[in-house]
This record gives sequence, C-alpha cells and structure tokens, in this order.
Amino acid sequence: MAQVLELLNPLAGEVIVDCTVGFAGHSVAMLQRVGPEGFLLGIDLDASALKEAGDRLKLVGDNFDLSCGNFARTEGIFSLLGGRRADVILADLGVNSQQLDDADCGFSFSHDGPLRMTMNRDEPRDAAELVNTLGERELADLIFRYGQERHSRRIARFICRARQEGPIRTTRQLAGIILRAAGPAGRRQRIHPATRTFQALRIAVNRELENLEALVSGAKDILAHGGRMGIISFHSLEDRIVKHGFRQLAKDGYMEVLTRSPVRPSEEEKKSNPRSRSAKFRVARCLAKGNN
Ligand SMILES: C[S@@+](CC[C@H](N)C(=O)[O-])C[C@H]1O[C@@H](n2cnc3c(N)ncnc32)[C@H](O)[C@@H]1O
Repeated sequence: MAQVLELLNPLAGEVIVDCTVGFAGHSVAMLQRVGPEGFLLGIDLDASALKEAGDRLKLVGDNFDLSCGNFARTEGIFSLLGGRRADVILADLGVNSQQLDDADCGFSFSHDGPLRMTMNRDEPRDAAELVNTLGERELADLIFRYGQERHSRRIARFICRARQEGPIRTTRQLAGIILRAAGPAGRRQRIHPATRTFQALRIAVNRELENLEALVSGAKDILAHGGRMGIISFHSLEDRIVKHGFRQLAKDGYMEVLTRSPVRPSEEEKKSNPRSRSAKFRVARCLAKGNN
C-alpha cells in the first residue's frame, strides 16, 4: 500500500523492525529511507522467504539483520535489536505470494497439495492434523469462529463423515468435501464455498490471532518514544484486534492512534494488485509512558 511509507515515515538513521519481511517489498523501501546510518531487522516464520529477502536487501546496504521466528515474541525482538528501541514497527499480515502459490504449502484449494498451511515450513502441527483429529463439534466451532462460516456445522459433519473412509490428506480432497456440503446453492455463491473453511484452518494452525494480540500488546515495550507501529490486516478478525488493541493502548496512555479509520488501498492499487482488495492499515505512535 502506497500509504504505508507515508504514514510510518521512516527517517534517516532510524531503527526499523519489519515483523513480516516476506520478499522484502516493504523492507527494501524502508532500508532505502533510513540510509546507511539506520538499521533494519526483518523477521519471518518462512525461512525460504528470508533467503530471498536477504538477496534483495543486500542490493541496498548491509545494515540489516534477518531472523527466522515469530513476531509474537517481542522480548526476543528486543534482544535481537541489542537493546535498542525501534522507531518503526511494521506487520503486513497473512501469507506471502509464494506460500499461497506453492501447492506444497497447502494454503490454497486452487492447487492440489498436502493439507499443511504452516507458515513455518518445519511446524509439525498442520491443517491435516486438525481436520483428521478434532471432534465434529470442535471442528464446527473452529470453522465458525475463524472462518465466520454460517454452514460450519454442516461442513464439519461432511468432513467427519468423509474421514471415516480414510484420512483427508490434500487440499482438493477437502475442497471437494466442502463443495458437496455446500450443495447447489453454495456453488452459486460469490466466493468458493471452501474459502471460509480454509481461512479458519490457516488461522488456527498458525495461531494467527494470538500472535497478533501478543504483538499489539508487546510492541510498546520495544518502541522508542515517538516510534510508529503500522499493521496491515486482511480480514475483520484481525482488524478488530488491531483496532481494539490500539484503542486500549491509547486509553492507557501508551500510544496515540494516528488513523481514526483504517486506510484502504486506492482503486488503482486494488486493480493492479487484487490481493490488496481487503487490506486495512492502522497506525499508532508510542508516547513517553512505558519503558522509555
Ligand atoms: C503478506 S506477507 C509480507 C509481504 C512483505 N511485506 C513484502 O513486502 O514482501 C506476510 C509474511 O508474514 C509472515 N508471517 C505471518 N505471521 C508471522 C508471524 N507470526 N511471525 C513472523 N512472520 C509471520 C509470513 O510467513 C509471510 O511471509
């Protein structure tokens, strides 16, 4: 989103933490802005993205460090910064384009692959484990809570019935079961009937909402006075956490919210990058209260 740099406004010499470095699109731009006196720490759960990010960042400078890990561990970020405080923290949530397009990652029902959905590719607990081991009620609750899927009970019933024949191992297998559960009416929906269930499984497997809550509440302990934190979210469950988290931090005197309502991508950007369609960006600035 074009407004990310404008609102976070990284300045020469500042310390940046990109919590979701991915393929370094934002990191490259921010490293250019902070110049040789600044520093960027990039974090990602996906080691293969970090390798590529490193190659791109090297073309800008060597004043950066990359770390494979979870942004929820804010104390760990503080030690990686060597006790320095961050002037800018950015989290651009969700999966990167390679995770989405690589059938082996199992995030998408458009490609047939193993039902994994783990952002950290070494994580043993994957979507197949949830789909094949949770009870029908637990599965329905998960699909309803994280996918906001009205037909969660029916989908869970179809999944549990199907797995009696043998474990559900692939994305296409699961998508096919959900299609059958959706029936002819579901197949006429604007979005694929499996969209919400896949979102729910991804959120649960990666503990996405818990990680986001930990980042929002822990960031004040690593931000410098005047430091800016920006979060780009892609669905209402995430945006709600950011909105309420920022509001609470403002109430407690730790942060000032800079975006009254979320910043949305321009029509032009939505056209050129359809994945940005649902993006919402919120920014808050750290006030003196806290550990500064
Ligand atoms: C939308 S992509 C980021 C794209 C990046 N801003 C760019 O410009 O290329 C999101 C990235 O966040 C990573 N990610 C998601 N949750 C994470 C977490 N809790 N800790 C660290 N990285 C995470 C994913 O692995 C993915 O690479």
